[in-house]
Amino acid sequence: LWTRLAPEPTSGGGMPDADVPVRWELARDEGLREVVAEGVATATTAHGHSVHVDVDGLDPVTTYWYRFTVGDFESPVGRTRTLPAPGDSTERLAFAFASCQNRQDGYWTAYPHLVEEDLDFVLFLGDYIYESGPNPAKLRPHPPQAQDLAGYRDRYGLYKGDPGLQAAHAAYPWLVIWDDHEVDNDYAGDVPEEPDEAFLERRAVAYQVWWEHNAVRLDPPDGAELVIHRSFEVGDLARIFLLDGRQYRSDQPCEADIGPVCEAGDDPARTLLGDEQESWLFEGLDRSDARWNVLAQPVVMSKVAIPLGETTLFNLDQWDGYVPARTRLLDHLGQGQATNPIVLSGDIHVSGVGDLMADFDDPGSEVVGAEFVVTSISSLFEPAFIDIFEAALAANPHVKYGEARSRGYVRCEVTPESWRADFRYVDGIDTETSPIRTASSWVVEDGRPGVRSA
Ligand SMILES: [Fe+2]
Repeated sequence: LWTRLAPEPTSGGGMPDADVPVRWELARDEGLREVVAEGVATATTAHGHSVHVDVDGLDPVTTYWYRFTVGDFESPVGRTRTLPAPGDSTERLAFAFASCQNRQDGYWTAYPHLVEEDLDFVLFLGDYIYESGPNPAKLRPHPPQAQDLAGYRDRYGLYKGDPGLQAAHAAYPWLVIWDDHEVDNDYAGDVPEEPDEAFLERRAVAYQVWWEHNAVRLDPPDGAELVIHRSFEVGDLARIFLLDGRQYRSDQPCEADIGPVCEAGDDPARTLLGDEQESWLFEGLDRSDARWNVLAQPVVMSKVAIPLGETTLFNLDQWDGYVPARTRLLDHLGQGQATNPIVLSGDIHVSGVGDLMADFDDPGSEVVGAEFVVTSISSLFEPAFIDIFEAALAANPHVKYGEARSRGYVRCEVTPESWRADFRYVDGIDTETSPIRTASSWVVEDGRPGVRSA
């Protein structure tokens, strides 16, 4: 359970410099009459008066409601839900995943619809905030760039003030990872986008503020590092590996973020997950008895070749910039210890569905898994690139679906027999509300790697 005391959320929080006791209650009913757990947590100045409560002893597969109280002030009532116990026979999981909500680009018209779905949780794959400064040409220009403790806190205060986002948090538990914009565009490990000797201090502050603003069962960071990779079991049905694609990666290779691959890209010492996380993931996959093994991670894993005139371009911030590391991972998935690998990705503001190939350059090679890429909640895909993106699909036969014009989320329904993914698109983000529709649906069947149209 999470909350934060911030009467002035976009200008320093507005709290006195004192720690504050916060009462919490968790009940079996929305009216909070049947309270099953309660206590007092401390909102500390050191952590921006955020409150994290880890309630144990709850029943599996059960919906609970909760509320925080400080003095005369009561929070709205939130709803949450427990997962099936690890290993328990589980017939159904329903969740949605989303990414990328640049507030400058438009309204978050998807969230009121997300609230109406019947989900066990929401999975967010990063770019929850954008750190950038104002672009006056945009619909809702940002304040100045976030780069220190107050700046990042105020940015979360701004983003979390959105009523639709608040309702989505009040409706479901969320599983979250980060991508780059929680800190700095396209940063890699300790390398910022623009040279900055104090970058690790900036990163440490951004990681702390990320921790302050998320309902994560992690200890608060102490220093420049924060380990966020972790996994969840959903009964015997699924194991979800939440991966960190930013903190441990080698710097992007070659000259441009989007460009031809140069020799440096082939260096096997380069890594996207880092050695420790990679080993942890491989061991976790080897030990997993789950029917579906889910890699929830920020950036597109499939090869996406973009032919342009005489050359072929790649997005080198994605796994295409880390080919030897991708080959190691796909080889591991191909060994088949973990059944039914599903990779979930975001970051790029387009939708995509594809087969993960043992060798992307050989259309006859083994399919080792499926990838679903979610479009953004609001971040725009550069309009000038839409035609190039659509034309590039033909050069990538393992990509079965690609769409760059729409915003929304992906809803997944998982059973022991199949994985279904519905791509849900709003009509637009330039007005405060919009209808939504299911634009495309895809299925993976148990034991048959690869996607097919539903
Ligand atoms: Fe993004």
